[in-house]
Amino acid sequence: MQRIRTEFTDMLNVDVPIIGAPMFLISYADLAVAVSEAGGLGSVPLPNFRTTGDLAACLEDIRSRTSRPIGVNIHLSGKFPWKEQLALCLDAGVKFFLTSLGDPRLIIDDVHAQGGKVFADVVTFEQARKARDRGVDGLVAVASDAGGHAGRSPTIVLVPYLRAKLDLPVVAAGGISTGAQMAAALAIGACAVVVGTRLIATHESKALPAYKDAVVAAGPEDIVCTDKITGNPANWLKDSIRDFETRPEIGSKKWLDLWSAGKSVAQTDQIKSAGDVLREMVEDYRATCTRLMATLDE
Ligand SMILES: Cc1cc2nc3c(=O)[nH]c(=O)nc-3n(C[C@H](O)[C@H](O)[C@H](O)COP(=O)(O)O)c2cc1C
Repeated sequence: MQRIRTEFTDMLNVDVPIIGAPMFLISYADLAVAVSEAGGLGSVPLPNFRTTGDLAACLEDIRSRTSRPIGVNIHLSGKFPWKEQLALCLDAGVKFFLTSLGDPRLIIDDVHAQGGKVFADVVTFEQARKARDRGVDGLVAVASDAGGHAGRSPTIVLVPYLRAKLDLPVVAAGGISTGAQMAAALAIGACAVVVGTRLIATHESKALPAYKDAVVAAGPEDIVCTDKITGNPANWLKDSIRDFETRPEIGSKKWLDLWSAGKSVAQTDQIKSAGDVLREMVEDYRATCTRLMATLDE
């Protein structure tokens, strides 16, 4: 894999500025390893693990298959045993901590002491300013097109807005699944991109086969944003939530039938390996840059 050098790749020592999104019930060891081995930064969200034993087993599995940098999404609200999770992750050499909910100051000193970085998921300027004041190393700007909990502004506006207002590295999350889209994100000031929706439809994702097929079949008009499911605005495959309000409560299993995805289902037309997704993005990025350079020719 040829390198693409940005502030992010230098900071995290990865070859390409692509973070494989931490996705609830989707991103586990297989996907994280595949993304990291392809030169990106693979990650898992810690709420995927019911016990710290499950997390320890996953980290051991990852470490038996790759020595490359990996990341986690850690929740600091107090609902999860974040201190134990943090200790396990630091022991396993995790270098990238993406915080959502809670105060990143709880972990910054420990992560920095091990040479890691702390970024915060943000959807608004106010959240971004607060995270900056609390000392994070960078921001993940979650835009309105993103799968999972979505922001309110499109990537093309949110990234340069935060970049201009706050002197911090900004990673773009939302609607990015091709190299041309990554080039656009880098052009507007992002130092890296988070790819979520595109990686649902990969061999290594833990999504149900029907979920992967639905992501491949969907177009952007099949995605709806609602706060009715989790209390916060999130993007969903419309058909999977159609009868949500009348469904019987079936505990945590219900999440398996509620399928979140972002607008980049538009560019997701085949189930393939995560490594191929990354390799094609890098190729497309290079072709896009060449094409753009040609517009400057006399
Ligand atoms: C099914 C699904 C689950 C997600 N779960 C999480 C999560 O647990 N933690 C997190 O930080 N982000 C989560 N996200 C958001 C992604 O990390 C990322 O910001 C987003 O997918 C990027 O936009 P894209 O889907 O358009 O590529 C999730 C996204 C999806 C699609």
